[in-house]
Amino acid sequence: MVYRNGEEYFVLMHSDAFYLIKNQCPHRGGPLKFGFINERAEIVCPMHQNAYSIASLIKRASTVCLHENSGAPE
Ligand code: FES
Repeated sequence: MVYRNGEEYFVLMHSDAFYLIKNQCPHRGGPLKFGFINERAEIVCPMHQNAYSIASLIKRASTVCLHENSGAPE
């Protein structure tokens, strides 16, 4: 589990990038991390089976894009 500002997130890889996505369905707060990704690149919520495009979840203000760091000082 990943927590940020007291809220749970999960890690999602999409198009060779990693994102922290808030684990809260836009509908009624279901745990998106237990959903699945369908053939249209949508995450299907396990609660009521609403589907959300990964692109729209990435655009949410709460989403964090994680960048690789070589570990070398810059
Ligand atoms: S809580 Fe996710 S679809 Fe309803």
